[in-house]
Amino acid sequence: MSAAAEISFDNVVKDFPRPGGGEIFRAVDGVTFSIARGDIVALLGKTGCGKSTLFNMIAGLTGPSAGTVRVRGRDPFGEFDALRGEIAIVFQNDRLLPWRSAIANAGLGLEMLGRGAAERKAAAQFWLTRLGLAGHEADYPHALSGGMRQRVSMARAFAAGAGILLCDEPFSALDEMTAQTLRGEFSSLVRENGRTAVFITHSISEALELGDRIIVLRRPARIALDIRLERGMDRARRDEIRENIQAVLAE
Ligand SMILES: Nc1ncnc2c1ncn2[C@@H]1O[C@H](COP(=O)(O)OP(=O)(O)O)[C@@H](O)[C@H]1O
Ligand SMILES: [Mg+2]
Repeated sequence: MSAAAEISFDNVVKDFPRPGGGEIFRAVDGVTFSIARGDIVALLGKTGCGKSTLFNMIAGLTGPSAGTVRVRGRDPFGEFDALRGEIAIVFQNDRLLPWRSAIANAGLGLEMLGRGAAERKAAAQFWLTRLGLAGHEADYPHALSGGMRQRVSMARAFAAGAGILLCDEPFSALDEMTAQTLRGEFSSLVRENGRTAVFITHSISEALELGDRIIVLRRPARIALDIRLERGMDRARRDEIRENIQAVLAE
């Protein structure tokens, strides 16, 4: 494992008790990878393959049953507080607070970190503008389209200043045109701002559009493929990668 890795998993296992007790269910079965700073990595796999479980371990919401998880050299579950502010999450559902305006929602991450009102407002304003929502600062979530709400939740994640962005299928509830636009904007913003992003998806096209790298999981979560994407790949290379991934997901 590289010491400079932003995120590293070393032989990680996660077991869950089965309902009713007795046997355990192994949701993650010996996963090792490491993610470098500035990378956009898509974690791709079918429903039930353990993507959210990996995600929850990176976010420190749960710990591994065996093996080691490190985020910036720390244990995200055991040292949760030390990593507060280093990780921001964008969920499938935008999880905006309905009683707050767009700007108050976008400042929520910084508010939870105890930052002052002026700093929150400036950062929220900057990121709302960056995400094309200038003029909508005072709007409430119910007045915004699904795509705009997801823009607010991206603004909230960027505004919080976290170096690592964790995204759990944030665009899967949107229509394909909107999703495609947001994917492009998201990856440019991550790159321009030197963030690291882990992006969970079950869509091969989304993984190809977004990532510098695609980690393909088979069920139970084991790494089947780990593919680095070259910038400016030609059509034939993309088709080849797509076919390789399809073959694994069809197993
Ligand atoms: N808290 C839990 N308790 C018991 N089983 C769980 C729990 N979380 C996930 N699982 C099981 O682990 C497997 C992987 O789940 P999950 O990580 O949510 O997959 P994915 O996000 O890829 O759809 C599934 O079979 C799921 O039922
Ligand atoms: Mg999931």
